[in-house]
Amino acid sequence: MCGIIGFTGKKEAQDILLDGLASLEYRGYDSAGISYFKDTGKISIRKTVGKVADLRAICDDENNSTCGIGHTRWATHGGVTNANAHPHKSGKVSLIHNGIIENYHELVETYDLKDQLISETDTEVAAALFNKLYDGNPEAAIQKAVKLFRGSFAFCILFKDQPGTIYAVRNVSPMVATYCEDGSFIASDLTAFIAYSKRYFIVPEYHILTLTEKGIVLKDLEGKEVTPEYLEVSWDVTAAQKEGYPHYMLKEIHEQPAALTRTIAPRIKDQLPDFSEDNIPDSLFEHCTDITIVACGTAMYAGTVGRTFIQSTLHLPVTVSIASEFRYEEPVITENSMVIVVSQSGETIDTLEALRLAKKYTKKTLAIVNVKGSTIARESNYVLYTHAGPEIAVASTKAYTVQIASFYLLACKLGLVLGRIDEKSAREFIGMLQKTPDSIETILKQAESVEHLTKRMIHAQDAFFIGRGLDYTLSMEGALKLKEISYIHAEAYAAGELKHGTIALISEGVPVIAVATQKHVYSKVISNIREVKARGAYVILLSKDEKITDKSICNVHIRLPETPDAFTIFDSVVIFQLIAYYASIGKGFNPDQPRNLAKSVTVE
Ligand code: M6R
Repeated sequence: MCGIIGFTGKKEAQDILLDGLASLEYRGYDSAGISYFKDTGKISIRKTVGKVADLRAICDDENNSTCGIGHTRWATHGGVTNANAHPHKSGKVSLIHNGIIENYHELVETYDLKDQLISETDTEVAAALFNKLYDGNPEAAIQKAVKLFRGSFAFCILFKDQPGTIYAVRNVSPMVATYCEDGSFIASDLTAFIAYSKRYFIVPEYHILTLTEKGIVLKDLEGKEVTPEYLEVSWDVTAAQKEGYPHYMLKEIHEQPAALTRTIAPRIKDQLPDFSEDNIPDSLFEHCTDITIVACGTAMYAGTVGRTFIQSTLHLPVTVSIASEFRYEEPVITENSMVIVVSQSGETIDTLEALRLAKKYTKKTLAIVNVKGSTIARESNYVLYTHAGPEIAVASTKAYTVQIASFYLLACKLGLVLGRIDEKSAREFIGMLQKTPDSIETILKQAESVEHLTKRMIHAQDAFFIGRGLDYTLSMEGALKLKEISYIHAEAYAAGELKHGTIALISEGVPVIAVATQKHVYSKVISNIREVKARGAYVILLSKDEKITDKSICNVHIRLPETPDAFTIFDSVVIFQLIAYYASIGKGFNPDQPRNLAKSVTVE
């Protein structure tokens, strides 16, 4: 949570910081601020509650500073107020922070900082501590301070008597940096400076960075200089822009066919799954007795699809754990268990901690991750990168579909290695997976009709998503999408479970979005749908049937393409995403920035 950026170089910093913050806004949008060196050598701060646009409005048009830092906040400690907004200032220090200093109360007591604090934040305590330890040598102050902090942090720090220089240090919370012809950049992620450089390096934990107009010096905590390991991305600034779409979310929904092709194609050789370029050996799958999938939110729901599919096709026990629960529920993992963690950002702290725990039991850990070089990707024994490209909208869309495609590829490989499927069926399966991008294209052509049907939904207080088997797992994601961006209370139910309590909530006009695509349970789902319809529900049914005119089943029928049962979820979820998107804009909300949320959750 929280986005941070720093720039020092030959250009004016203010626009670089504000534009960078705008691209980091998905990390938090409670308040925003910048601080920069004025030509008098003083540090000036501008900050405000609200979004980056609000900050831009109070910034000085004449600001020609070439060195500054900027922050967009997702509140953890203290409410959404100007005083709690970053940057914070204490004596000679001005800083921005992403993360949580867990022992900040203790530090206030031990270092007698109370009188210097005006906000409720842990960050201001850190600023006061840096200031207290500072005697003219920034590196020495940082070395001492970081040994005292408990928790996660990415700091960018300005010292008043070090004009033109930004210092930075991190633990857990991500930070990347680069030096290019315009100067030195540092940020929470690459999207903030991709317009200037496709080259970057991941800031190593507990190393001190000194950024100046002339370059970046990286040192470990003993003061030994270290050479940064530069990486290069294949995407450019346009991938992180809206490209004519009104919102990132809609753009990302439409990017799914391309994202799927990018994720699937490099893993297929001779029409069979092949992970040699990912350095994932077949031995990872050999002797695998069971699988535990761990993730949060949408990634966890993708895992639920993975579980249902793998368990039913390979007859291998698979469990799914919510990452924040996993560590506290005594997981049963042996050396032959495979643990798959799933994360778009690769930085979700609960998922990361779950991975760390899993590694104590098994070497068979595999991460399905979208962001290259992220912490989860680096710490997992094996990584399968999804190639969705940057996902900026807070509501995950394309990341989910490529995660499912990754599970399907893994399932196919696992089945072959364990001898549970033969090559002929594996080839057929891969052939069907390759068709998913085209099938989604067909669905996207119906986007306008989905917009039309959401008009009925925007006045609803509650909505229900029901289905059985894979359709049920998918419904969980449908409900999450709708509630997180339209604020309509939505729940997913296994269609057969409704009558055990929840059906009491169905009354006249309550929208029920039902999915009936799985042949083996089709007639049972239809019966369950009739049950809610008989109680007044407004039923929107997704199925592969040519036409459903029976008014005792549904009010609206959306016909899905005739794809095999295991693959219809790719089509259905796109409809769900569009329903959520249009419900959100129909209610006048910004689907890219739903209230109270942030894209990557780096607090436990
Ligand atoms: O980056 P991650 O995939 O680890 O994020 C996990 C969840 O926070 C995330 O999937 C969240 O549920 C979605 N943004 C919701 O749309």
